[in-house]
Amino acid sequence: MRPLKLTPLLQLNIRVIDDQHQQLIDMINQTQDILNHQEDPVALVQILNQLRELTILHFTTEELLMKKYAYPDLKNHKSQHDISAQKTFDFDGAALMDDPSAAHSLLSLLRSWLLTHISEDAEMAKFLREKGAE
Ligand SMILES: [Fe+2]
Ligand SMILES: [Fe+2]
Repeated sequence: MRPLKLTPLLQLNIRVIDDQHQQLIDMINQTQDILNHQEDPVALVQILNQLRELTILHFTTEELLMKKYAYPDLKNHKSQHDISAQKTFDFDGAALMDDPSAAHSLLSLLRSWLLTHISEDAEMAKFLREKGAE
């Protein structure tokens, strides 16, 4: 699997959102590296925990922006966040250390989750840009 990249198509042109998406991409790529090179399992658990924390922070950032600019679809977008966080981060990091195939399916899940998440942000970002966010 090639590493993920924040291609121009995935850039939403709101700096804080793009920066956080870039950080999430970096962490998922790091997860991939750890799995490919069978590095220290502790490193895997650490990076997954960081990814989970950054995701929560990222969702909060978007929710504050939506609030600030009175985004009409805030409620739906927030519930998408809640559902996706629940589904994506429902794993036991420690158990993954002994189960490489589960770890690899988690990686695929994370990759597609992030791409879906970014595409779901597009409409919100368009609205925020029209309201002057940058
Ligand atoms: Fe996002
Ligand atoms: Fe979002």
